[in-house]
Amino acid sequence: MAETSKRAYKKRGRSIIKTKKLPEIKVVQKKKIIFLGSEAAPFIATGGLADVMGSLPKSLAKNKNLDVSVILPMYSAIKAEYREKFKFITSFNVSVAWRLQYCGVFFYEYQGVKFYFLDNEYYFKREGNIYGFYDDGERFSFFSRAALDTIARLNIYPDVLHCNDWQTSASIIFLKGMYYNDENFRKIKTVLSIHNIEYQGVFGMDTFSDVFGFSESIRPQVEFNGAVNLMKGAIEMTDILSTVSPTYAEEIKESFYAHGLENIINRNAHKLYGILNGIDIDYYNPETDKCLFSNYSASDLSGKAVCKAELQKMIGLPVREDVPIIAVISRLVSHKGLDLIKEVIESLLTSDVQVVILGKGETAYENFFTAIANSYKGKCATIIAYNQDLSRKIYSGADIFLMPSKSEPCGLSQMIASRYGTVPVVRETGGLNDSIKAYTGVKGNGFTFHDYNAHDMLYVINEAIRTFNDKNAWKDVQNRAMTTDFSWRIQAGEYEKLYNK
Ligand code: GLC
Repeated sequence: MAETSKRAYKKRGRSIIKTKKLPEIKVVQKKKIIFLGSEAAPFIATGGLADVMGSLPKSLAKNKNLDVSVILPMYSAIKAEYREKFKFITSFNVSVAWRLQYCGVFFYEYQGVKFYFLDNEYYFKREGNIYGFYDDGERFSFFSRAALDTIARLNIYPDVLHCNDWQTSASIIFLKGMYYNDENFRKIKTVLSIHNIEYQGVFGMDTFSDVFGFSESIRPQVEFNGAVNLMKGAIEMTDILSTVSPTYAEEIKESFYAHGLENIINRNAHKLYGILNGIDIDYYNPETDKCLFSNYSASDLSGKAVCKAELQKMIGLPVREDVPIIAVISRLVSHKGLDLIKEVIESLLTSDVQVVILGKGETAYENFFTAIANSYKGKCATIIAYNQDLSRKIYSGADIFLMPSKSEPCGLSQMIASRYGTVPVVRETGGLNDSIKAYTGVKGNGFTFHDYNAHDMLYVINEAIRTFNDKNAWKDVQNRAMTTDFSWRIQAGEYEKLYNK
């Protein structure tokens, strides 16, 4: 071999040896998370649960290590604009104790999240609300079981099944108590998130085998005070238990907040975590929100003044910039602290304020607040409705947001109000305590009181009004409220840590 070619060979050889060392290929196995819930925005929403089910999975799906799906009932009330886009993928029969019921599965990918909708017209094609029917136990027994069967059918076994509230608690009970012979199911870890411990899914003991078809061996976990208690069963059987704020995680260990489950919570406290909810800051954004009379931002609030004037016109209040509008947007139910408002509203209305109340719920509250609005025309307006568009017009047009809840697992309205520059007055409970801190002049993003007492509340409302009348101080607290980070950015990471446990 000629000298030159020898050198060339050696060179080539060396280079061959070099390139032989292939770069290591890391196969990143995405962790698969499936959420089960009874509602999710924007498809179907009656409360805060829907906001969370719409925004947390979306935020988690941005993480490239996670593969995120949500399974929901296919209610007839889901808006046609979405339903039209759903794609039918399969159908099969599901056991609901001794019954065999049809289940159709529809699919729709939305904002990076895979949504599966489970169809059964007998259970989910109903007039009016999505809950509150005599057979809710059976409806969600069907859904909880159908969700597991969908997972098997489509071979989409997750690493983590994340259930929410009582409506999907039975999935954890079926999974841990009856599906464990199947290795694919046995490997699944579960998270149960409690959004409100008041609603536990309690049904007569006769439903144990007749509606849920539970096996005898799990009776001790599921039975509570002589009834079937789905949330209790799932608390006992889940791998991880979470709730929607750190303060609420502590509160539900006490009888005042636990609606009878305090001993069960304490017994399971070793696996309990409290993670504050976030909100979807794109969905609630005063700079782009199409429902608003005018858009605005923290740095330019001129649009908010337009929102205020237009709101006043719309609901029949005198158009005045100098008077503070106090808003209540709430389900009209007792744990929202409405009794405190009832007690002092007339005395509040003697000051130079305007009050607007939007919500629906218990008839006694609806009647009371309607009557007050009738006797204080031009000072108080009450609208009995659950209305997204109007709520955003109020969040943006008001100055002060009142939320004196007796208990509040997390609460999202105080965060939404803050984002729209409407400063919250809250009671220090649950997520209100974790998200709103009293304004001191140098820190804080709202006004707070501790005891469940109407006069303590009135005292801080008056403090908020005094601050409103001091232009510079108001600008400051309003800015602090608007710029508090209520996004899922940090909290989604907390959930990822839970999934990795
Ligand atoms: C429930 C709670 C509320 C919480 C929401 C979302 O509606 O009552 O406080 O913000 O769930 O977790």
